[in-house]
Formats: sequence, C-alpha cells, structure tokens
Amino acid sequence: MIDIAAATGIESASADVLVLPVLGERNWGPGGDWVAGELGDYLTAYIDEAEFQGKPGSVVSVPVRDRLAFKTLILVGLGPDPDTETLRQAAGTAGKKASANESLATTLHQLDVPEAGVAALEGLLLAQYRFDKYRTEKKPSKLAQILLIDAEPDVAAEAAGRARITVEAVNLARDLINEPPAAKSPTALVEVAQEIATTGGLDITVYEPDQFEAERFGGLIGVAAGSHEPAAMIVLRHEPADPKGFIAIVGKGIVFDSGGLSLKPPSGMETMKTDMSGAAVVLATMQAVAALNLPVRVVGVTPVTENMPGGGAQRPGDVLTPRNGTTVEVLNTDAEGRLVLADGLSLVAEEEPDLIVDAATLTGACPVALGEKIAGLWGNTDDAIDQVKAAAADAGEAVWHMPLPSYYRKNIDSDVADIKNTGTRYGGSINAAMFLKEFVGEVPWVHLDIAGPARWPDDEHYQVKGGSGFGVRTLVKLIEQAGE
Ligand code: BES
Ligand code: MN
Ligand code: ZN
Repeated sequence: MIDIAAATGIESASADVLVLPVLGERNWGPGGDWVAGELGDYLTAYIDEAEFQGKPGSVVSVPVRDRLAFKTLILVGLGPDPDTETLRQAAGTAGKKASANESLATTLHQLDVPEAGVAALEGLLLAQYRFDKYRTEKKPSKLAQILLIDAEPDVAAEAAGRARITVEAVNLARDLINEPPAAKSPTALVEVAQEIATTGGLDITVYEPDQFEAERFGGLIGVAAGSHEPAAMIVLRHEPADPKGFIAIVGKGIVFDSGGLSLKPPSGMETMKTDMSGAAVVLATMQAVAALNLPVRVVGVTPVTENMPGGGAQRPGDVLTPRNGTTVEVLNTDAEGRLVLADGLSLVAEEEPDLIVDAATLTGACPVALGEKIAGLWGNTDDAIDQVKAAAADAGEAVWHMPLPSYYRKNIDSDVADIKNTGTRYGGSINAAMFLKEFVGEVPWVHLDIAGPARWPDDEHYQVKGGSGFGVRTLVKLIEQAGE
C-alpha cells in the first residue's frame, strides 16, 4: 500500500520526484515560484527547449538531481482555469511518469478546485494500476510514498482515506473486468460478492439455478440455458440505521457474451469478457459504500451468467417471462443483457426505492453514437436524470443524456408476445433502453450504457488501457450526495 503523508515546507521536503502544477504558460501553481527561484535560467532553458506551455495534458520532466533535494521535477499542465477532473487527469499523467520512483512530493492538492486533495490522490493512485498477473515479467509501479506539501495532517489523512476507498473500488472493478472469462465464472463472482459482504458487513442473498423458477427469473433462465456454468442472481444490501434514502443499483453480469445461437463473429467476441462490467461496477460500488459507511440504504443487484450457444440454449423465437410478468419474444439471443436486467430491475422495483440506476455494456450502438469514452444515459424522470448527471459531472465521468421518445416504443412491439428483445438497427441503444423501461414500473430510474467506456481504449492520464471501472465513481458520488 502506498503511504500518504503531509510534509511541511517545499524548501525542506525531499523525495525522488517533485510534481508541480502549471496553470498555463509560465503561470506557476503552488511551489512554482520557489522552484523557479532555485533553478533560475536552467529551468527556463529546459522548458523552452521542451516547448512546455502548461496546457492541460502536457507534462515535462526536468532532471534536478544536484540542484534540489529531488531527483526529478515533473511539471504538469492544467491550463488557466482547471476543474476537478482536469486536476485528477494531470495527477494521473504525473503519476504515470513518476511510477518508476519510490517517493513523490507534490502541491497539486493545494489548487483551488473542489475536492483538490482527494482528486489529486485519486489521479496519482489510479495511474499506478497494472494488470500483470498473467505476465511472466511484471513491471509493477515502484511508488511507495506520496508527500502532500503543506497539507494539514488530518486533512491529508481524510483525503487519503477517501481516495484510497474509491481507488480500491475502481481497481477491484478493473481487475474483475480484465480477468479472462474462464477465470470469472458466475460462481467465482459470487465468491467475490461474498467476500465484499463479509469484509463490509453487508447482507447478501445469492439465488441459485434451482430457485430461478420460483423467483420467476425468466430472463436469466433463458440466457443461462446455453451454458454449463450455473448462473446466479446476487443481491447485496447496505442497511445503515436511520437511512437518508434508498437507492438500488443493478449491473449486467454477462461473464462472456458469445452471442448465444445468434453467434457473434470472432472479432466481436474478442472483448466480450468485459460484458460483466456492470456487475463489476455494482460489486465495487457496494464495497466502497460499505467502507465509507454512507448513511443511505443501498441494494446492489447483479444477474451473472455466461451467454453461450450450448445444446440447451434458447432459440430465436422463444418466449420468456421475466419476473414482472411481461412476456418477451427473443428474436436475437445476442440481445441478452436486457433479458437478465429485466429480472434484476423487476426485483428491485418491487422494493420501491427512491431511485434505480443500472449500468450495462448493453449495445454496440452506444459507442457508435458517443465514442468510447462517453456513456449513454437514459431515464424516466427529469429529477432522476439530473441527479445522476450531477453525480457523474462531480465524479469526472462523461455521460450524455439520450432520448426515450414514446413514438419509438413500437420498435419493440412483438408479433406474438408483449415485447421483443430487438428493435430497429437505427437507434439500437434507445430501443434497448426502451426495453429496460418496461421493467421498472413507476420507480424513478436511470440507465447507463457503458459499452464504450467500460473498456478504456488507450493509456491516457489516470486511465490504463483495458477494464476501466467506469461508473464506480459516479455511483459512489450519487450515493454520497443522496446522504447529504
Ligand atoms: N454485449 C453486447 C454489447 C456490446 C457490443 C458491448 C460491443 C460492448 C462492445 C450486447 O449484448 C449485444 O450483443 N448487443 C447487440 C444487440 C443487438 C443484437 C440488438 C448489439 O449491440 O449488437
Ligand atoms: Mn450480446
Ligand atoms: Zn452482452
């Protein structure tokens, strides 16, 4: 675990690396004047040479071994008017550059943006993530200590505690998403959920296949039919005394999506181990909610199964009845996420929470519309939509509100059942959201289609290519804000 501590005075601090913010061209952030004074023309010449402008995303390393009590000075640009996410990203950029060193001192937390300390630490810590358990040669981050220059010790400790809980939750989600499909059977995810419950003091109920009929989990029964792996419906509960509200979170947990009998082409399957990202987000959020002991009642639900084309598999044309009784004609077995979510959403809607939020890698159409770094957001009330949008903005995760027009409802009309599980190709993500809406009744609900950002496409700032845990920060923030 990386040690985080306060240090007094940049003049007397020492570490391998000193990370300082620059707010646009030569506009030094905290600590910059002192360093510029110490280094004089050496620094000016160096950043001239590097053409460093202090723009957001820019970074320059300056060797300062014999000049300061640090080996390297890392200047990170934030532009003239940074917000919290710009700070988090700059910290991530610096954190990656610093990861071959053991200690780092910084003033990033002193910037005048909301929650600067937590954001700076989140960026630094998230950037140290590696998924190397299957590599023979591992290249772990060497970072062991972070010094927050001139922070009050109790403020530093508080920020460190909060940042650690968030980062551990995001990293849990990243690990689960990056894990190969054979190593994360539904049973293995149930074990992870049980560990989270034990550690965090959460209630847990796991419904097993022989209970599915009695529980009327018709969607999960249909999708799981083609797999040899026993499926599960996991229900975790955080039940504080005198709760300030009641939020339900539901995550799509397809541990591998082959498409079922409506088999995907090989290229389409390459990343389908990530199809349980919604489940990972729900499990990780429950871990953080428990660790932060938030004063909100939270139920976290995730149907987990494989979607495989085994001999028992459901067929296009079959009709399923998810838990709320709505009958569904399955025309494409690759539209399986909405089928298992139908059961999960029905289950939590019965408890009439103040708000249901689901997270799902639901449609390939969503990243076609929004690119890979923005989640689609749908909802059935303006209040619910605004609440989740505000949480996402504060958490620094990009979401975009998409429409749910009633005149598209006929896209999911079926010839034989109440609805069908496909729609028109155009607006595919809207049709999927329209389908989910049928299972929440009158309860305020928001759907996040994380098919794009669940898997980060490249290494940048604090993001590491691969499973991102996108959604964890938004959901934790949402639950935190519900308790205020
Ligand atoms: N898990 C996929 C969606 C997906 C695709 C996520 C690419 C991430 C990247 C989902 O189960 C799926 O296959 N959806 C189909 C729906 C269609 C058959 C109506 C899709 O998007 O093609
Ligand atoms: Mn699918
Ligand atoms: Zn899927």
